[in-house]
Amino acid sequence: MSFYRDYNDKLAFEAWNTRQQPVFKTIQVKPISRAGGAEISGVDLSKDLSSEQFSEIKKALAEYQVLAFRDQNINSEQHKKFGEKFGTLHRHVSAAIRAPGGDPEILAWKTGKDSRFTAGEVWHNDVSCDETPITQSILRVTQLPEGGGGDTAFANTHLAYESLSTPLKQLLLGLTAEHSGQEGWTNGYGEEPAPGQKFAVSTHPVVFTHPVSGRKHLFVNRGFTTKIVELVRNESQAILELLNRHIETSQAFQFRIQWQPNSVVIWDNWAVQHQAIWDYYPFNRWGERVSAVAGIRPTQELTQEEKKLEGVLVAA
Ligand code: SIN
Repeated sequence: MSFYRDYNDKLAFEAWNTRQQPVFKTIQVKPISRAGGAEISGVDLSKDLSSEQFSEIKKALAEYQVLAFRDQNINSEQHKKFGEKFGTLHRHVSAAIRAPGGDPEILAWKTGKDSRFTAGEVWHNDVSCDETPITQSILRVTQLPEGGGGDTAFANTHLAYESLSTPLKQLLLGLTAEHSGQEGWTNGYGEEPAPGQKFAVSTHPVVFTHPVSGRKHLFVNRGFTTKIVELVRNESQAILELLNRHIETSQAFQFRIQWQPNSVVIWDNWAVQHQAIWDYYPFNRWGERVSAVAGIRPTQELTQEEKKLEGVLVAA
């Protein structure tokens, strides 16, 4: 008797590592791990990008899910301008709590020795409780911890899905899950919505088909997902725990971005989960994030509407 019945983890990497990879003409792309992530050079984000460069950036994002642009001396306005190229800028419900009086389209935070938490310490997809979740997040770390550390860890949720056994995949394909802002921010950080506002609650498929790549991804996370709708409580808790642990502990489909001064990092928020690593006490790490929303929901089969909207996301 062997537990290794269908070798789906090996097959997942076989398909992934032998996938057809695009050729780039106007940017240079250097992968940082087998699972995902790439360093991009030949781009100056403080200037207008040519349409060819922007198309290739979108193509690289679809292929590598997380892109790091180094030596980019950009300010908040240029950061937002880059974000706007991907969609409508997201206004985070906690922006005003974390940086009172700040720009509502920039989620800013300052983690230091007196902080109670750093934003995003739990593995998550940003604001997955929204009905049309953030499609891309773009982060600048404006103050790096002096002693090093403070990486962002990422997990490729396509490989997470594909490496599950066939019977479990079949079960998951029929399920949906609830994602709640209260779970993320009130239970996570003790934050309450502003007066008159409510944190979002939405239901998404546990497995969705990415509108750009056509690949299937797991879409539950420790930060926001509260339950699997179709299961009874014990089953829901057990399956969620299994999936969260699978994503959090499988190093084969994880990778990290190490921050440098003037780095700008963009991730496909549907294709990866991420975690901020708070290992730099007592030093400071400050971040500013801009996120874009394309106004579409994750679905298992792409709807006609999403296919039309694909042009928003897919490289032309
Ligand atoms: C986040 O966007 O969740 C935070 C990521 C980070 O600070 O590395």
